[in-house]
Amino acid sequence: MAPPLPKEKGLTLPQECQDFVHSLKIRGKYALFLAFVVIAFVFIEKENKIISRVSDKLKQIPQSVADVNSTDPALLLPENASLLSLSELDSTFSQLQSRLRNLSLQLGMEPALQAQWGAAGKPSQQARAGNRRHVLLMATTRTGSSFVGEFFNQQGNVFYLFEPLWHIERTVFFQQGGASAAGSALVYRDVLKQLLLCDLYVLEPFISPAPEDHLTQFLFRRGSSRSLCEEPVCTPSVKKVFEKYHCRNRRCGPLNVTLAAEACRRKDHVALKAVRVRQLESLQPLAEDPRLDLRVIQLVRDPRAVLASRMVAFATKYESWKKWLTEGQGGLSEDEVQRLRGNCESIRLSAELGLRQPAWLRGRYLLVRYEDVARRPLQKAREMYGFAGIPLTPQVEDWIQKNTQASRDSSDVYSTRKNSSEQFEKWRFSMPFKLAQVVQAACGPAMRLFGYKLARDAASLTNRSVSLLEERGIFWVT
Ligand SMILES: *[C@@H]1O[C@H](CO)[C@@H](O)[C@H](O)[C@H]1NC(C)=O
Ligand SMILES: *[C@@H]1O[C@H](CO)[C@@H](O)[C@H](O)[C@H]1NC(C)=O
Ligand SMILES: *[C@@H]1O[C@H](CO)[C@@H](O)[C@H](O)[C@H]1NC(C)=O
Ligand SMILES: *[C@@H]1O[C@H](CO)[C@@H](O)[C@H](O)[C@H]1NC(C)=O
Ligand SMILES: *[C@@H]1O[C@H](CO)[C@@H](O)[C@H](O)[C@H]1NC(C)=O
Ligand SMILES: *[C@@H]1O[C@H](CO)[C@@H](O)[C@H](O)[C@H]1NC(C)=O
Repeated sequence: MAPPLPKEKGLTLPQECQDFVHSLKIRGKYALFLAFVVIAFVFIEKENKIISRVSDKLKQIPQSVADVNSTDPALLLPENASLLSLSELDSTFSQLQSRLRNLSLQLGMEPALQAQWGAAGKPSQQARAGNRRHVLLMATTRTGSSFVGEFFNQQGNVFYLFEPLWHIERTVFFQQGGASAAGSALVYRDVLKQLLLCDLYVLEPFISPAPEDHLTQFLFRRGSSRSLCEEPVCTPSVKKVFEKYHCRNRRCGPLNVTLAAEACRRKDHVALKAVRVRQLESLQPLAEDPRLDLRVIQLVRDPRAVLASRMVAFATKYESWKKWLTEGQGGLSEDEVQRLRGNCESIRLSAELGLRQPAWLRGRYLLVRYEDVARRPLQKAREMYGFAGIPLTPQVEDWIQKNTQASRDSSDVYSTRKNSSEQFEKWRFSMPFKLAQVVQAACGPAMRLFGYKLARDAASLTNRSVSLLEERGIFWVT
């Protein structure tokens, strides 16, 4: 399929460029794309000074953390990902892409491939596709995003994908910090754009083991996408094979990516859930792409609850926290706290940008608190659908009713359905107060923005009549 990699013609690369490319462990189409970038760097170096500007940018990134004028140490992100210089890097990157297009024409590359990577410059001014909406549910882990994602998954005319960026994180190794962290935002963004356009082939180079003939049994959590488990994407299962990511209620043959892409195009809308997009800012090209009608729903949750949940779900990553809790002293390094702070800050910065409603985001951003969804799921679902401009069907309403309320029949002790308005603050009764204090200290600015009140003492943490939630209207400015 893919044309052979263009030869590098024995040119040597600038060191920054090598570092950038080598920090990504990639294969397939993306390798090709990066090879383009590499070649573009080389050509550009020959002709003018952009390369020095690019490499300056690349070198600057780790330092830009220190450039932040604020004395707030919260801005010292542990992953050293620059929150300020991404747009600069990105505009430089766009220039590169434009050059890349010229370059690939010279090299006689397939135009289709260029188009696929957005290297063909500005998308043509074709009209936005009717009423088709492209919903991105932007969250972080343990914020209830799978649950909220179901609101879109359950609607028959929405093509929903669950966490497709998982594959990119698995196969592209981004060294923490510096250019690579910013680079990851660009890769995620480009992949998301293609997926929203129903180009599901874009995932293939990242799926391991590699799909053959566009068939794969390894699409992450296939079973979480109804669209991938219904006719005609669910093909008859011929032989019994182990499928790690199988459909929930039926057996299907391996996923045919072509069939999935066709199904995506047939549906009225597309929705994706992603916990790996850290910066709302990185999505600007998607919002501005005339082929897309993007709606970003940023889902946030009380960081105390998130930490409590992560300590259970990702137990091994939180060994030092547990040690610190049980043994009293030591254990909890400044790095750990810094990471927590960094996560809260990147969520807050994205939300602040969204709420500020810059022109490119106007009408395209909605902030949702998980706690509000848990307490008033139907109302929040209506708001989200209203914001997205998609009519909510009874199908979704039924699903929500069934999955958020405990059975009214109290004799039904085996009901697995949770009463979501009782569940959302369960964490308060098992979280040691000193852990809550650490989160409150690290995540204060984010908590203030989202209306999560600080607990003064252990008693108020566990006192049900003390609310830790400020009531907020819809975080949605029109
Ligand atoms: C830091 O402050 C200087 C002068 O006040 C300003 O020009 C610059 O833009 C600021 N930098 C950042 C990253 O905010
Ligand atoms: C690409 O090529 C076209 C036509 O040859 C030229 O007008 C344009 O300036 C080039 N773009 C870049 C970024 O070099
Ligand atoms: C991030 O920056 C800090 C301070 O400059 C440095 O000590 C640390 O090693 C960097 N971390 C990564 C993962 O690059
Ligand atoms: C996948 O689906 C496409 C579209 O229907 C079909 O042409 C192709 O043969 C299928 N691939 C395989 C391996 O069955
Ligand atoms: C769920 O719990 C809330 C809070 O305790 C209560 O008000 C509500 O009636 C419960 N709903 C059902 C269906 O049990
Ligand atoms: C819980 O909080 C309420 C309201 O602040 C207070 O009246 C009550 O005494 C508290 N209960 C306990 C057990 O501390």
